[in-house]
Amino acid sequence: MDFSNYSKIVFPLVLVLVFPFSSASKSRSPCDFPAIFNFGDSNSDTGGLSAAFGQAGPPAGETYFGAPAGRYCDGRLVIDFIAESLGLPYLSAFLDALGSNFSHGANFATAGSTIRPQNTTLHQSGFSPISLNVQTYEFNDFLLRSQFIRTKGGVFSKLMPKEKHFSQGLYTFDIGQNDLTAGYFLNMSTDQVRAYVPDVIDQFKTAIQDIYGRGGRYFWIHNTGPVGCLPYVLDRVLITAGQVDKAGCASPFNEVAQFFNSKLKEAVIELRKDLPLAGFTYVDVYSVKYELISRPKKHGFEHPLQACCGHGGKYNYNMHHGCGSKIKVKGKEIILGKSCKNPSVRINWDGVHFTEAANKWVFEQIVNGSYSDPPLPLNMACHKQYA
Ligand SMILES: *[C@@H]1O[C@H](CO)[C@@H](O)[C@H](O)[C@H]1NC(C)=O
Ligand SMILES: *[C@@H]1O[C@H](CO)[C@@H](O)[C@H](O)[C@H]1NC(C)=O
Ligand SMILES: *[C@@H]1O[C@H](CO)[C@@H](O)[C@H](O)[C@H]1NC(C)=O
Ligand SMILES: *[C@@H]1O[C@H](CO)[C@@H](O)[C@H](O)[C@H]1NC(C)=O
Repeated sequence: MDFSNYSKIVFPLVLVLVFPFSSASKSRSPCDFPAIFNFGDSNSDTGGLSAAFGQAGPPAGETYFGAPAGRYCDGRLVIDFIAESLGLPYLSAFLDALGSNFSHGANFATAGSTIRPQNTTLHQSGFSPISLNVQTYEFNDFLLRSQFIRTKGGVFSKLMPKEKHFSQGLYTFDIGQNDLTAGYFLNMSTDQVRAYVPDVIDQFKTAIQDIYGRGGRYFWIHNTGPVGCLPYVLDRVLITAGQVDKAGCASPFNEVAQFFNSKLKEAVIELRKDLPLAGFTYVDVYSVKYELISRPKKHGFEHPLQACCGHGGKYNYNMHHGCGSKIKVKGKEIILGKSCKNPSVRINWDGVHFTEAANKWVFEQIVNGSYSDPPLPLNMACHKQYA
């Protein structure tokens, strides 16, 4: 019997039957991302700035790692929880030459990173020279040289990702907060900061296009948090009574953050059109963080606007005596920036960054996709659901 005609007829039928099921997200299989490549600032730095400019000292890391671990936090960051939940190891920092294992990805983020390169040094302004464009140069270098090392064999080859990890891996982004504060710290007005946001977003798009051009396909993009609720902003900038919202946050700063986020979301929509082979998930981390800070008791937290680890003042934050800072009095060393008693009920760690407990809470809110566009869980982020 000749089946060739038969199969020609059956094939379209099978398609029609299968299609409605395969398009429902429930029947889709998890993505099994074999690697994560992360780009960002201190919100996701797992050792980059520490490797290049000196370790984030104690009491950083005390809650989880028991010692400083390159993170500006008492423990794990959202990116650590993301890695854990995908069954992957914590990410080594690309810049960390010691003990790094890149077999399942690499982290290019450094604390203080901006999207746009800043025209100041780290020591002048506190912003990292490893801006997002530099992170993509590092990524390109990593992509080529890791494969060269794998091909060559030898002791380091097993510490490198497989070639296919670059197309199958998840590319995560959490950056932009420092681009906003950079202008304010130069005494710019809110209007001046808003005016340069489109340029910041353009440079973000350039970075994504670059990574896509090298084979990246799955992008998980966090928007920026409510920076006007952070002690280092509240303490440093003059805010009038009318500019404080119900949660005690500085409204103008949060409005700029939301403006940035609206432009970021537009950019993601454009990127979906321009880069049709890629999947983009936009994650509204702003709303999650603001919910936590504005209703801490409901979620088991307290003192949302005070740093856990710091020194004095309304926000337990002093820019000259940060978390872990020491002074010498009559030859005796005194620690000024001490940790609070119970970081597990605190939101802010050091005036700038979230505690491990808060990071875990944020992660738990975003992992199931309820703050994502499209609303897919993290482990389904390779499936495109938008038109
Ligand atoms: C690198 O990490 C992977 C995943 O955690 C692990 O299986 C492997 O043994 C590690 N390699 C070395 C040399 O430690
Ligand atoms: C840095 O300076 C260059 C050249 O003047 C300028 O184009 C760029 O916008 C500046 N960057 C920032 C972040 O201000
Ligand atoms: C911003 O203004 C403050 C207060 O007037 C001043 O002390 C500081 O030097 C200014 N900073 C810059 C970068 O101009
Ligand atoms: C997602 O998880 C959060 C936190 O566990 C929960 O409150 C929310 O109802 C979940 N949403 C969905 C759509 O499952």
